[in-house]
Amino acid sequence: MKTILVTGGAGYIGSHTVHLLLENNYNVLIIDNFDNGVQKNIPENVKFYQIDLRNISDIRKVFSENQIDAVVHFSGYIEAGESMADPYKFYNNNTFAGLNLLKVMIEHNVKKIVFSSTAAVYGEPEENPITENSKKIPTNFYGSSKLMFENILDSFEVYGMKNICLRYFNACGAAFGLGEEHKPETHLIPLVLDVALGKREHIKIFGTDYQTLDGTCIRDYIHVLDLAKAHVLALKHLEEKNTSLKLNVGTGKGFSVKEIIDKCREVTGHPIPAIESSRRDGDPTTLVASAEKIKDIFNWESQEDLNSIISSAWEWHKKTF
Ligand SMILES: NC(=O)c1ccc[n+]([C@@H]2O[C@H](COP(=O)([O-])OP(=O)(O)OC[C@H]3O[C@@H](n4cnc5c(N)ncnc54)[C@H](O)[C@@H]3O)[C@@H](O)[C@H]2O)c1
Repeated sequence: MKTILVTGGAGYIGSHTVHLLLENNYNVLIIDNFDNGVQKNIPENVKFYQIDLRNISDIRKVFSENQIDAVVHFSGYIEAGESMADPYKFYNNNTFAGLNLLKVMIEHNVKKIVFSSTAAVYGEPEENPITENSKKIPTNFYGSSKLMFENILDSFEVYGMKNICLRYFNACGAAFGLGEEHKPETHLIPLVLDVALGKREHIKIFGTDYQTLDGTCIRDYIHVLDLAKAHVLALKHLEEKNTSLKLNVGTGKGFSVKEIIDKCREVTGHPIPAIESSRRDGDPTTLVASAEKIKDIFNWESQEDLNSIISSAWEWHKKTF
């Protein structure tokens, strides 16, 4: 049985992936500092270290106490807007702390890593769908911190380390009794569902004058369960082929902000009042993944649709309210 270290395993995507790894008979260890993750997301039978990756001596302790075969690295800060106000915070956690992790991996001869990258590495794309070869000019420091770490991973090939960078588009939905919870929440679907629950009075739409059919931004929404499956396949690829890859993880389909709100109205039966507001800086009009490469290499395709995304998220939000 292979042992996988999951950093950020108490967070949203990490915890879903941990559950799927256990179902696939991996032995799992989790590191999380509970900046955003929560204890209840950690299965009882899983060994857990509440440590911060910015502290290299704590990472060394985890590697000294365990025989680790590969790492799945989710931990980091995720809010692009915040990165524009506090770049140090993002480079320190998303880049420097990751470098600590890589150093200890090399010291312990652990040379396989799956990394949570992001569509934000592409910035404002020249084309949609976006392929892995599209230009990478991030428009925020969050995207830069992630792209920088991708480049560091490539440098670590010198040590024989292989990486799979999964560039997620908009993660959403819920499974395994877990769900999406960020502090503060900035993602569209949980915010819209908060209105249906009465936790917010309305949802704000940032920009209704984009060059899209209804004037609102278009994004590629990918169910967290589909994302988790991509990680299991990435680990199998590293075990069997041991080659590095950069892969988009999206559906290849886009939905506008208004379409998402309408779908939430349909699923929840709530009118969900929306207020139209001006554009936010740095929001690209359309971000849709080309999912061809991951389909070719892993035979992976998203299985869930928008209905299952919103319904699963709604079930979870109602339970945790
Ligand atoms: N949610 C999305 O739509 C999305 C899209 C693209 C990429 N990503 C990337 O996926 C990863 C996971 O995202 P998420 O939505 O699950 O976020 P999340 O905040 O729920 O999970 C991140 C986890 O990392 C932990 N963490 C943060 N800094 C740490 C540190 N220094 N040491 C130890 N633990 C630390 C947090 O406590 C949290 O549990 C992130 O790296 C994010 O950039 C997410």
